[in-house]
Amino acid sequence: MSRNAAQWTQKPKLPSTHYVDTRIYTDEQIFREEQEKIFNQCWIIACHESEVPNPYDYRTFNHPGGEPIFIMRGDDMKVRAFYNICPHRGNILLYDPVGNAKRVTCIFHAWSFDCKGSCTDISRGTEGYQNRLSKDDVGLREVRAEIGFGGFVWVNIDDGACTLKEYIGDALGLLEPTMEQPMEVFHYHKAIVNTNYKLWHDTNSEFYHDYMHYFNRITGMMQPGYFDRKYVGYPNGHASVGSMSIKYDAYDGGEQRGLGWPGLAPGGWILVDVFPGMTYNLRTSVMRIDTSIPLGPNKVMIEFRGLGLKSDTPEQRAERIRDHNTIWGPFGRNLHEDLLGVHGQGLAMREMTDSKWVIHGREESSTIHDEIGMRHFYAEWGRRMGRKAYDPMAESRPAAAA
Ligand code: FES
Ligand SMILES: [Fe+2]
Repeated sequence: MSRNAAQWTQKPKLPSTHYVDTRIYTDEQIFREEQEKIFNQCWIIACHESEVPNPYDYRTFNHPGGEPIFIMRGDDMKVRAFYNICPHRGNILLYDPVGNAKRVTCIFHAWSFDCKGSCTDISRGTEGYQNRLSKDDVGLREVRAEIGFGGFVWVNIDDGACTLKEYIGDALGLLEPTMEQPMEVFHYHKAIVNTNYKLWHDTNSEFYHDYMHYFNRITGMMQPGYFDRKYVGYPNGHASVGSMSIKYDAYDGGEQRGLGWPGLAPGGWILVDVFPGMTYNLRTSVMRIDTSIPLGPNKVMIEFRGLGLKSDTPEQRAERIRDHNTIWGPFGRNLHEDLLGVHGQGLAMREMTDSKWVIHGREESSTIHDEIGMRHFYAEWGRRMGRKAYDPMAESRPAAAA
């Protein structure tokens, strides 16, 4: 039976933890608040250490809190992060996504900075500022940066936030044995989608949508063990899904995939969602990392990185690249099916004016099709935002301590 206008706007007959109000995906004010209360207080992956291997290598990063940032390896080999903003008149310092620079010189009035963020030169400084302004007063804004959990460079805008280790807790424990050897990024691409960043993270947090994936439907879902995979939630909104073996050769002409990954069972799969928008996805022979960077309430840039082991032989690397790109990367169909799903949600929600609901109500003993992952995320989202995901426009409370 279809529903009329009044019925359409009625709340679902489920507990309030089991649905969300779609305005959390579309409202501009909520988005600004998320930047301030979530993205500017959480640890975020900016890049991987293998992307800045040498002294003075840098990589720019569009921080989801809104600030442009760059990561640079110093002459002491330490990796640091800075606002990519000139302290003089606020110009962007580095435009290229990657490069190597012994000194960073602003194109506007030629002030220079070194790899530790110190100002090393103010052009015609004494003539213009006499002794009223010291180079020490105009260094770059350093952002906390730590390398960890597989060699990723994490940043946190909040100088008072907990350590990265405290933030992650045990959430990446399942992956720990698989990340003992140094990794290396061999693939990077990004997708910009007109949808809310949480819808992408939601899709990485529920596997009921395996019905959308042709290959998963005809292989993974048919295999014993698929419905036994457990979803586990951790403090700070993170969640993991345990391993199962997938016979990818079922749609690969029967060819056996010999190349595995140290610490992972053959054909294994471990996925960890890190709050608020990062996913580790280790499958068979390749690690894929997704990082969601919201550009507005209904626009997200998703960065995808494929990683292998630094110790790979050329043959092993070629196989990992092939596995990644033809199955889980840009030339496979899974990724595009996922993107199609969240693109459709963005299309449906962008002009929505009457309140509607998105249901997160499946309960299947915390196994793979249980929507506990999304519910776990929104409990943390609500705690940090001081808002309820099912009633976001109710008067907001002060956000919980980060
Ligand atoms: S804005 Fe950078 S030197 Fe003036
Ligand atoms: Fe998917």
